[in-house]
Amino acid sequence: MPMDIDLSLLAPVLQKHEGRGDALITILQEIQEVYSYLPEEALNRLSREARIPMSRIYAVVTFYTQFYLKPRGRNIIRVCRGTACHVRGGSLILDAVERELGITDGETTPDLEYSLETVACIGACALAPAMVVNENTYGKMTPSEAAKIVSRKEKKEQKVE
Ligand code: FES
Repeated sequence: MPMDIDLSLLAPVLQKHEGRGDALITILQEIQEVYSYLPEEALNRLSREARIPMSRIYAVVTFYTQFYLKPRGRNIIRVCRGTACHVRGGSLILDAVERELGITDGETTPDLEYSLETVACIGACALAPAMVVNENTYGKMTPSEAAKIVSRKEKKEQKVE
C-alpha cells in the first residue's frame, strides 16, 4: 500500500543528530516517533544524508523488535500464544480475531485502524486465554467475546449513538 510520506518531518531529526552514525538507534527511534513506523523513503534519505549504508540501517532495524517497517494501526491487538493460553484455546481466539478483522498475525487493516500481533506471554497466565488491546488486558476469553471486543460494527454503532 503506497503512502505519501512527508519527508520534511525528517529534517529536524537529521539536523539534530547531524548525521552521527553512532546515534543510529536513537535516530531510528525518533524517525519512528514521527511516522509511527520506518518508511523506506525516510530510511533512504537517512542513508544518503548521514552516509550510513542501507545495509547497516536494515541490519539494525531488523535486529530490534521495537522497529516497524510497515505502517501500524491506531489500535494494537496482541493475542497471546504462550503455553498457558495455547492449552486453553488461544489459537481459537486468534482465529476469531483474524476472522473479525480480516487480517492475519502481523498485518494491519487497510484503514490503519488495527494491527494484529501475537506475543509469547503477556504475563496474565492465570487469565488464559488472554489478549491485549492497546493498554487493556482481556482474560478468560472465548472466541465470540474476543470477536466482539475487536468488532468494528459495534464501534461504529456506538459512535452513531
Ligand atoms: S501464556 Fe498467555 S498470558 Fe502467559
